[in-house]
Amino acid sequence: MYFDTHAHYDDEAFEADREEVIASLGEKGVSLVVNASSDIRSSRMSVSFAEKYPFIYAAVGIHPHDASSLTEASLSEIRSLASRNKVVAIGEIGLDYFYNYSPREVQKEAFRLQMQLAGELGLPVIVHDRDAHDDSMKIVRDFPQVRGVFHCYSGSLEMAKELIKLGWYLSFTGAVTFKNAKKAPDVVAYVPEDRLMIETDCPYLAPVPLRGKRNDSGNLKYIADRIAEIRGTTSEHIASVTMDNGKRFFSIG
Ligand code: NI
Repeated sequence: MYFDTHAHYDDEAFEADREEVIASLGEKGVSLVVNASSDIRSSRMSVSFAEKYPFIYAAVGIHPHDASSLTEASLSEIRSLASRNKVVAIGEIGLDYFYNYSPREVQKEAFRLQMQLAGELGLPVIVHDRDAHDDSMKIVRDFPQVRGVFHCYSGSLEMAKELIKLGWYLSFTGAVTFKNAKKAPDVVAYVPEDRLMIETDCPYLAPVPLRGKRNDSGNLKYIADRIAEIRGTTSEHIASVTMDNGKRFFSIG
């Protein structure tokens, strides 16, 4: 069975058939999902999915794209949503210097405020870092009491080594199956077995052979297959260790 540690079933791509897609995940071998949030609206939706479906858990937080929307009021709503049943992390939070939808200084401040909140609540964080490795690491180092995962990891091998030393986890998406994935195989081969997680980031990043299509958690097997190939092990073994790691990381069960 697979644990999808990062999905977005609140996304409008699932508007027409969300119930059917979620209901089909069990027969596709998916037994756990964490729905990651991007703003207040999606944080509320993630919590409602967690309340409705036994196998879905929620992360709540403001994505760097929406950092400009973080106010005292929205931060306090995140704090109160975080105390709800089955909310297991703050996320996704971080920095995105590829799109720069919010100004960089605003993104950094939102990231810091939510790291602070995670520290106060004793919750792990899910970090989104796109083209912002140096600044992301600076903020991570400033909060040594906070543990987390870099989702859709895209940093260097050196950065991976530092994160592992700090007690962090690394998570990989369908991007590891893309032909142009250059750094990822080295990092996938390096990550200690007890720090590895997998995720779809659906509806985005569908793995090969479905690249470009709408993604869902049922496609985790393609990601596990590729990681197994890189690490010289079986897909079943990757499914099993990433299940154990996800449960430990999010304190599930
Ligand atoms: Ni995401």
